[in-house]
Amino acid sequence: MIKSSELNLTAVAKDLKKSGCEALVIGTGQSPDGPVLLDNPLSAKAARALSDSLPLLGVTGAADEVRRLPGLPETGSEVLVLVGTGRAVQGRPLSEETLRRSAGSAVRQLDGIESALIALPAATVAEAAAVAEGAAMGAYSYTEHYSAVGGKAPRPSARSLSKVTIFTPAAQDRTLRAALDRAAVLARGVNITRTLVNQPPSHLYPESFAQAARDLAKGLPIKVTVFDEKKLEKDGYGGILGVGKGSDRPPRLVKLEYAPAKSKVNLAFVGKGITFDSGGLSLKPGPGMQTMKLDMAGAAVVLNTVVAIAELGLPVTVSGWLCLAENMPSGTAQRPSDVMTTYGGRTVEVLNTDAEGRLVMADALAAASEEGPDAIIDIATLTGAQMVALGKRVSGVMGDDGVRDAIKAAADRAGEQFWPMPMPEELRSSLDSQIADIANIGEKFGGMMTAAVFLREFVGEINGEKIPWAHLDIAGPAFNEGGAHGYTPKAATGVGVRTLLAYVEDVVRRLDRDAG
Ligand code: BES
Ligand code: MN
Ligand code: ZN
Repeated sequence: MIKSSELNLTAVAKDLKKSGCEALVIGTGQSPDGPVLLDNPLSAKAARALSDSLPLLGVTGAADEVRRLPGLPETGSEVLVLVGTGRAVQGRPLSEETLRRSAGSAVRQLDGIESALIALPAATVAEAAAVAEGAAMGAYSYTEHYSAVGGKAPRPSARSLSKVTIFTPAAQDRTLRAALDRAAVLARGVNITRTLVNQPPSHLYPESFAQAARDLAKGLPIKVTVFDEKKLEKDGYGGILGVGKGSDRPPRLVKLEYAPAKSKVNLAFVGKGITFDSGGLSLKPGPGMQTMKLDMAGAAVVLNTVVAIAELGLPVTVSGWLCLAENMPSGTAQRPSDVMTTYGGRTVEVLNTDAEGRLVMADALAAASEEGPDAIIDIATLTGAQMVALGKRVSGVMGDDGVRDAIKAAADRAGEQFWPMPMPEELRSSLDSQIADIANIGEKFGGMMTAAVFLREFVGEINGEKIPWAHLDIAGPAFNEGGAHGYTPKAATGVGVRTLLAYVEDVVRRLDRDAG
């Protein structure tokens, strides 16, 4: 059972002393003249004294810098925490993303503190909600596998952050409560995605992932259908079966359906859910395999996005397809040069068993298309080439112009980095197979785009028109192999949930506007 420990999130507009929080967090920034204290609720006198001493305290105001000082008597809190926000421009408010990162960075570095009052400059409801999101995402940790005797597990008596109060004039606004609740739903979705991705493949495999989907949907108006290997065989899901057949742990396809009465639009999400990618017979070298538990991140994002949509009661019909398989080498594994028949009948020559993601996605894209959704979005840790093109923190988005640009805009609003990439027509012929409809590998330069061109073949049509579609490649950004930063921990990041949710909200808003 996947658990998520949650922060109690509230807001106050005045009476610093009354909040009763152990720590008061205020922001610092970098200006051309040195470190500065950002807008804060301290008295002018205390603020000036503190501001003057910043250089001697060694405070620079850089992002991710956190310093603890004794609390000032006038604040009523025991500790004063200074969190850096990076470059500060006089008179310009911090961006929502800077607020998220700063709040996350502070919360991440508050070991041993149970309650914090965060007084970053957040004047509006949206800004206060950004602080809440950052704090709730920053409070994440994954400690499930530390034993009682190994010495790393937190002591049962250990103090950890459970309460965050946001100091903001927007606390007076009637819409703030709903915004904080949305922030909590969103952060929970991100944090549970992280936990699913962090789960080792010894613990998370297709069947247990399917069970996690059932557990998370419990009590929500989401219908969960799990296709086991017999059903997959019967219905012709050759892509998922082919990838899964080298493993002792059989594959699954999970279909999630949320269909509220007041629905305005029908969207389908497809997620790559390879619970471990060894490469199969086209075996990966050892170091490249080490992080391959991450390869189900797309499916975890889809699951948590559908759950968040249901929790928020958004007026959209959504289906979520989780393509779950373990890619393993064995005597029953598919061989390079095998031909498989994907759902709907297209044949694929499998020239490299390590290009498995596109095979499982092919089945689900075809199946999702049959239901005639208004758009299909897929999300996958699909290619190492994504990192060559865009690096470790920027995800790629490809597809039809409209959906692709809508995803990019949603990502910008949500604070996730996505960048549009083309799908050059000439790449299609590189996927030609001598003996089947298509091969699973083609041009390797620009391999992220080649993979997208492959996937496009499996997106269906309604009345002769291709269903609007976008493909999100999160191979690098899904997993942070470096140090923690902002609200992003080490290891699984949960990237994608916020963008997909923002996309759905944007679609709803656009329809509302067009209708009214
Ligand atoms: N899961 C990998 C892609 C990946 C690599 C994700 C590194 C995250 C980090 C995918 O299944 C894969 O192995 N892709 C191959 C495709 C190639 C054989 C065409 C790759 O990128 O090397
Ligand atoms: Mn692979
Ligand atoms: Zn893979």
